[in-house]
This record gives sequence, structure tokens and C-alpha cells, in this order.
Amino acid sequence: MKKLGMGLVGPGFIAAHHLDAVRRLGHVEVVGIAGSSLESARKRARELGVAHAYPGYRELLADPAIQVVHNTTPNHLHREVSLAALRAGKHVISDKPLASTTQEARELYEAARDAGVAHVVTFNYRGYPLVQQARAMIAKGKLGPTVFVHGCYLQDWLTDERAYSWRLDPKRGGASSALGDIGSHWCDLAEHVTGARIVAVLADLHTAVPTREAPAASAKAFAGTGDKTARRKVKITSEDLASVLLRFDNGARGCVTVGQVLPGHKNDLRLEVSGRLASLAWRQEQPNDLWIGHHAKANTVLTRDPALLDPAARGYAHLPAGHPEAWADAFRNLIADAYAWIGRGGTPDTRPTALPTFADGYRNSLVIDAMLKSHAAGGAWQPVDDFLEPRRAKGKRG
Ligand SMILES: NC(=O)c1ccc[n+]([C@@H]2O[C@H](COP(=O)([O-])OP(=O)(O)OC[C@H]3O[C@@H](n4cnc5c(N)ncnc54)[C@H](O)[C@@H]3O)[C@@H](O)[C@H]2O)c1
Repeated sequence: MKKLGMGLVGPGFIAAHHLDAVRRLGHVEVVGIAGSSLESARKRARELGVAHAYPGYRELLADPAIQVVHNTTPNHLHREVSLAALRAGKHVISDKPLASTTQEARELYEAARDAGVAHVVTFNYRGYPLVQQARAMIAKGKLGPTVFVHGCYLQDWLTDERAYSWRLDPKRGGASSALGDIGSHWCDLAEHVTGARIVAVLADLHTAVPTREAPAASAKAFAGTGDKTARRKVKITSEDLASVLLRFDNGARGCVTVGQVLPGHKNDLRLEVSGRLASLAWRQEQPNDLWIGHHAKANTVLTRDPALLDPAARGYAHLPAGHPEAWADAFRNLIADAYAWIGRGGTPDTRPTALPTFADGYRNSLVIDAMLKSHAAGGAWQPVDDFLEPRRAKGKRG
């Protein structure tokens, strides 16, 4: 079988995990990468074991050996690179958030829809087997009507005022920082697992570290605090903390807390859904356990075991029980779904049902935008602008 050719633009932190996932599939060839310069692309190509480095993304897009483009650039470049890739007729896998603004996200969604190619946004937390298990249980009514959806996404890598990232610069990261960067993952996950949509939000945002000491030269994605480079003071205007009340279209209520300055919390994403009959809780840092809560009988913990999972979730588990699967495996599951879709031509009716698309990326940006508007209005309830993708035909798994 002839391998599909992929190229990657933006070879930084997350890029290595895109390449790792693609390589684990076995039927995709990593053709080459493009960075901010030929020199940086060559250096990264050597580090990542990639055969070819292009002078820039335009040269990469012009290569007919590449059918699929992974866009892992900083947020402000997502629109430019993804649009150019779509116009070149490539399938596009963009990292999140889809774009820097809702207008750009809408433009990308419409361009992808019209291009007739596969379009994917890496909301990779969908790729965990027990996330799919939770989704299947809720869809089958095991929890009864949903009443409450709550959780958090907490990190601590921005706790030190000497930590800096392009994410904190609105020109490169977008108007939102913590919500756009990680709140976006939680909102996508909550909607995906419950099958319900967030229709209104009330948000309280805060910047706990309003001034940072950024490295004077251009910073890496997650500039550590130990480096000795010269520093400059930077005023931070975007939030590093957020508390948000939520209303869902099925009547459920909810809340989420998001923060990146919370000591001890590394990648602490938690989601709990309570229905009238039972509750479910899942934690990203202990992803092989799903807590199932009851009122009138003992609570249980479902430990990931392919034999015990719903058929819709089983294909996302690859190892027997007792052999933990984690972040990189979930990421690979999402990329596997993406390439399964690409293999079928990227037509709307062949999309694996768990796979997040540019439509989901656009929808997600509307939710985050509503949170920013709610806070700007002094903490008032803010409706989420309506966007209903035309109903898709029944999708497939894998
Ligand atoms: N899905 C996830 O869990 C996850 C995790 C981390 C990051 N991300 C997303 O991935 C994207 C990249 O984040 P990162 O942490 O890897 O950042 P990063 O800064 O480590 O990497 C960005 C890369 O883009 C390159 N770049 C800059 N300008 C470029 C240009 N003009 N052309 C080509 N390349 C250019 C940089 O040199 C760098 O190599 C962001 O959108 C971020 O939100 C997603």
C-alpha cells in the first residue's frame, strides 16, 4: 500500500507528539517540516529524525508528495497556514485553538467545509478510552437526564513570574490565555462527553501574575525559570485564572475552573457529570480509572480493560488491563481517527464520530468568546452565539 505523505509546519513542543503519533500508525510517511526559517527547520529535522526541511510553509505546501498538513504553529499563524493548506488541496490537522479569533475560526471552518478535504482540530483528550466509555454510557442513558457538569483544568507552569510564553502575548496567543489554551480543551470535552452544548456562560477572569519577566530574546513555548538570559518586564493583560458558570442546552447546569498559576497542579483536567441516576468522574492524570457514583448502592471504579468497555470505546484501548495507557496513546488515537478519515477521502459521511473537526474548533471559539464577553460585561450571563453544523450522516469509528 502506498503511504500517505505528511508535512508539519511549526516544529516546536507539540510537533514532536504529532510526529510520534503519525509514526506509530505505520502507513504514513513523514515527508518534511517547515519552521520559522530554513536554519531552524534543519536543526529540528535533525533532532526529530525528519529527512527534509523546507525554507518555509509555502514550499512545503507546494510539494506534491505531501497530502496531509499538520499545523502546529503558534496560534496567530493558524489561520494563514491552514487556509493556504486548504487552498493547496491538502487535508489539514490543526492544533487547537483553531484560530486566534472567532472570525478567523469561522473563515477556516467554511474554507474546510468547501474544500472537501479532512479537517481536524486536536482536542486530543477525546482520544482516551474511558472518555469514550463515559460518552457511550451517557448516550445510552445510564446516568439518566444530566443535571450537573463540572470540573477543572489546572496547571502550574506559569506560577513563577519568570515563566513566559508567546501564549501570554495577545498578538500571538489571542485575547484569552488560560481559557483559550486549556479551557478550550475542557469545554470541548464536556460537550463531547455529554452530547450537550454550552448555551450560556457567566465568567470571572483574573490575572494573578500581572507582570512577568520574559527572556529578552524570543521565548520558547514554555520558557523555564532557570535560564540566565537577559530579561524584560512584560505587562500581562490576559487571564491566568478563570471561574465560569455554565448552562447547557439540555437544561443541565455546570461550572469549570481554569488556571495555569496553581502550584502542584501539572495537567489536572477533571470532568464530572451527574445525572438523575448516577455520576461519572474522570481525571486526566489517572486516565485508566472511571469513577461511577450511585445514590442507593456502592460506588464503583471501572479500570480500563478492553473486555469491559462499551464497543464504542473498546477500539481506543490497545493494551490489556493493568498496562496503563496515557496521554501519548490518547493523542495517537485521535491521529489514527484522523488518518482513517483521510483514507476514506475526508467526506463528511465517513468521519469517525469521536473526531473533532474545524466545525468543533469554530464552535469552541464561540464558547471561549462568550466567556470573555461575560467577564467584560462585569460578570453577566452571556449567550453563546449559535452555530449548528449541518447534521452529519452517521459517522464511523476507526
Ligand atoms: N493539543 C495539545 O494538547 C497541545 C499542547 C501544546 C500545544 N498545543 C498547541 O500547539 C500549537 C503550538 O504550540 P507549542 O507549545 O508546540 O509551541 P512552540 O512554540 O513550542 O512551537 C511552535 C513552533 O512554530 C514555529 N514557528 C514560528 N513561526 C513560524 C512560521 N512562520 N512558520 C513555521 N513555523 C513557525 C516555532 O519556531 C516553533 O517551532 C499551539 O497552537 C498550541 O495551542 C496543543
